[in-house]
Amino acid sequence: MRGIFISIEGIEGTGKSTQATLLAKYLKEKGYGVTQTAEPGGTRISFRIRELLLSPESTDMEPMTELLLYNAARVQHIKEIVMPALLRGEVVITDRFSDSTMAYQGYGRGIGLDLIDSLDSVATGRLRPHLTILLDIDVETGLMRNRKLQKHDRLELEDISFHEKVRKGFLGMAAREQERIRLVDCSGDIEAVRRNIVGIVDAFFDALQK
Ligand code: TMP
Repeated sequence: MRGIFISIEGIEGTGKSTQATLLAKYLKEKGYGVTQTAEPGGTRISFRIRELLLSPESTDMEPMTELLLYNAARVQHIKEIVMPALLRGEVVITDRFSDSTMAYQGYGRGIGLDLIDSLDSVATGRLRPHLTILLDIDVETGLMRNRKLQKHDRLELEDISFHEKVRKGFLGMAAREQERIRLVDCSGDIEAVRRNIVGIVDAFFDALQK
């Protein structure tokens, strides 16, 4: 594998997709080949799974079904989008990856973390992002931002305590894996957050040259 794999993570309303797009633009302008993608999605089958997962009508979905479907969408995404781009030597920027499963299905839903880790190993073959940007904001502000955007998918409709658990999960993971997961406060404006992310990514690429 020759490319660089970067994931952007965080709770609802952290502006992940906006920042993923700005980072992709920045790296393209620097001359890198970039593939920008998102989970669950990226491929025809993963989008079908996404619709099933996020539809407010899927109220009767079991947590285990949810976990398996996120992993199923990921298998397809890695095979069709992520690995081919990495093998071409590109920078892959994904809006969400395995850390979201640990945070939402593990810390949020309460499914055993060891089980989630075992399934992740099956689904990803232990493919890990080289760098993860974790965007952080308080839950209420994040949910309010999304409401303004009229986003009402099934997980966003969970109560505040669910999202608090997810956020805590993400922050705990960042504390344990400080090398890979870099925390960025995103309560400021878009440009301030963008500069912060670009600084982290530039330092990461500089370290690779050494
Ligand atoms: P988003 O594309 O708007 O971020 O929506 C994806 C939703 O799916 C979001 O609520 C987080 C959730 N999710 C999980 O619960 N587990 C996962 O593994 C992934 C990738 C997303």
